[in-house]
Amino acid sequence: MPKTLIEPFRIKSIEPIRMTSRSEREQLLHAAKLNVFKLHAEDVLIDWLTDSGTGAMSSRQWGAIMEGDESYAGARSFYRLEAVIQKITGMRFFVPTHQGRAAEKVLFTAVCKKGDVVPNNCHFDTTRANLEYLGIEALDLVIAEGLQPSTIHPFKEQGDRIPFGMITVTNNTGGGQPVAMANIRAYAALLKKYGKPFIMDVCRFSENAMFIKMREPGYQNTPIPDIVKEMFSYADGATMSAKKDGMVNIGGFIVLKSEEWMDAVRNVLIMTEGFPTYGGLAGRDLEALAVGLEEGMQEDYLRYRLRTAEYLGERLEAAGVGFVKPTGGHAVYIDARTVLPAMPIAHYPAWALCNALYLEGGIRGVEIGSVMFGKRQADGTETYHSMELVRLAFPRRMYTQSHFDYAAEVIAEVKEKAASIRGVKITKQPQFLRHFTCECAWVDA
Ligand code: F0G
Repeated sequence: MPKTLIEPFRIKSIEPIRMTSRSEREQLLHAAKLNVFKLHAEDVLIDWLTDSGTGAMSSRQWGAIMEGDESYAGARSFYRLEAVIQKITGMRFFVPTHQGRAAEKVLFTAVCKKGDVVPNNCHFDTTRANLEYLGIEALDLVIAEGLQPSTIHPFKEQGDRIPFGMITVTNNTGGGQPVAMANIRAYAALLKKYGKPFIMDVCRFSENAMFIKMREPGYQNTPIPDIVKEMFSYADGATMSAKKDGMVNIGGFIVLKSEEWMDAVRNVLIMTEGFPTYGGLAGRDLEALAVGLEEGMQEDYLRYRLRTAEYLGERLEAAGVGFVKPTGGHAVYIDARTVLPAMPIAHYPAWALCNALYLEGGIRGVEIGSVMFGKRQADGTETYHSMELVRLAFPRRMYTQSHFDYAAEVIAEVKEKAASIRGVKITKQPQFLRHFTCECAWVDA
């Protein structure tokens, strides 16, 4: 019989998490205006708001922290990280940034112009926002499978306006799903045919590579670093939020195959992030990242990582709770409509489920539904999102199997009590990105 797939590490340093009572949580959520973003993290038992910058570093990374060279220009830590990134990506030109969205901003400012169009499978919110801020159209072309004629169409129509094509691995907006190597290859060929560079958003490149190894014919025996190298080989450059598969709490970078854009990139970088050998990070951050990037590609770690999401999926399936299938790499996306089928969309079922998970078990997830993507119109009416999801995103190397078992029990219990789960109304909201700061009240209050 196959044995339990265990966490491939042991714990050296622990951080207590605080149990609260249901009545305490009721008060805390009330004070937070029924918006879990406004909770103090200390009042959360299991924090699955994001997998970004929230993971545990290894003892090797903490050791490397002490070796950080804090020189302003030409620090040893920069050259060490540069060598690691060159080896992993096969690309030569690298600059650090303080996180992923800074890499996006610097690259887009340096090489795009107003009126351009940038296609992607799905742009992440910050990628879209950084493009739109510069007057560039962010085009989402996610499709069911492979490359379909609809994907090619925009190139025919808008060829002159496309500075480069993008692809996001894994697709965070689309349920944490991986992109197949065949797809990356075909997209690269298509872009090449039209003479367009190919930029990858590679926050979760290691998880994507592991999915390729597990699911795509021909890669079963290929080592992860070789799969990663092949993925990067098709691209001309990449932006990275190192807070994900870089296994660090802060950091990002831009890496490019050719030097052509580097002058422009460095100029913007110096204006907004810092000198090109530190890019808004401390020397110690560069050291931790140099170690983290390699640890994130270890196969036993990745196998365990993908298994945690799959395991929670199995528990949800058994409890009759729907979710985006198959489970992605970094998160499970619960379909709130399967838990609260009777709740009207106007009462924001995914938001209601998020609140219920906190009240029931101190778990914090994030709503990806009509609060995040819906809009209040000038006439006071609302537009709603097509899906009502709650994303539970897992910090790396942080929660053990018993945390996942506990979460599965809480979710199943919430489903049992569905009839008593209360919907919400929005009482105060900003014009943009309302989910972060909006205030809510119970509809039945
Ligand atoms: N691209 C993708 C695909 C992302 O998921 C993120 C961040 C970014 C870019 C931006 O990187 O946060 O370092 O500036 N995603 C986080 C999340 C915030 O919760 O999914 P950043």
